[in-house]
Amino acid sequence: MAEITVYGPIKLGDPAVIVHGGAGSWRLVERLDEVLKAVENGARAGLEATKKNNAIEVVVEAIAALEDSGVLNAGTGSTLTYDGRVEMDAGLMDDDMRAGGVAVVTYPRNPIRLAKFILLNLDHVIIAGKAADELAKKLGLPKHPGPSEASLKRWQRLRDELRKGGGPAWARKIVELYGDTVGAAALVNGRLAAGASTGGVSLKYPGRVGDSPIPGAGFYARRGVAACSATGIGETIILGRPCVYAVDLVAEGVPVEEAARAAVARHTRLFGSKNLGIIVVDANGYAAAAINTDGMPIAYAGAEAPTPTPLMLRRVTGEAER
Ligand code: GLY
Repeated sequence: MAEITVYGPIKLGDPAVIVHGGAGSWRLVERLDEVLKAVENGARAGLEATKKNNAIEVVVEAIAALEDSGVLNAGTGSTLTYDGRVEMDAGLMDDDMRAGGVAVVTYPRNPIRLAKFILLNLDHVIIAGKAADELAKKLGLPKHPGPSEASLKRWQRLRDELRKGGGPAWARKIVELYGDTVGAAALVNGRLAAGASTGGVSLKYPGRVGDSPIPGAGFYARRGVAACSATGIGETIILGRPCVYAVDLVAEGVPVEEAARAAVARHTRLFGSKNLGIIVVDANGYAAAAINTDGMPIAYAGAEAPTPTPLMLRRVTGEAER
């Protein structure tokens, strides 16, 4: 069985958008069709936003659609903390070395929109907690509806398992059982951007911050080179910074699919398997995805792929299932 599964290169042209719905196993998810629809809608929203001629807008609209899907671990579908609350992280970066991130937010329905405000308007990169929630309120951003029924049900089940004696190893396994985080990477008129949004890992300690608001870890972009978004166990992604590594490789002339594979391979060497998925788009309009987990739903669209294409990347065969 291949340890690393790679999909691509996908020739998308300019504009281009690729999204993911989180690395994980996806084997316990009952409605895979809803998951694939959600990533398809994310790519469609991104493609529609290419009319604004701005890569940041494409990333924001794609991720906001994923956050609104309710079936992915972000926005309205966010997984819960150990004490049963929604705490979300999100961030994004353009190829002007500008980034914005929010951590441990509870108020906004779409944390990625708050992250965009920070990128565009503040001299800071990451705003966390209460102050970030107050900023979202002040900006009039729509309020998060609170934990979904599905999230509450899963939380109850997972907490019961943990109490039966699963311990920390079980907490790690939770990521493997489901999916994690949403993200997008885009190329518009030669300019690149990437971002990520998440409810974090299930049963996380309240206040825990993952990789999704942190440039270089959860996402990264460099002018004329590539943009990357990551998903998986945030603690390993913060330490390993796979998005910077992948973009560095593309800068050295490594093809995008090889860069994605190498970044996941390096991460696997450092931290073991079942902890990472990445998507990458380069400045020439080629995209790729790679995972060391069992699965990751992705979708893409672009000048040369005008109909958004969703698929579930699977580890077992290394092939894509539609
Ligand atoms: N990758 C999302 C998180 O660990 O928070």
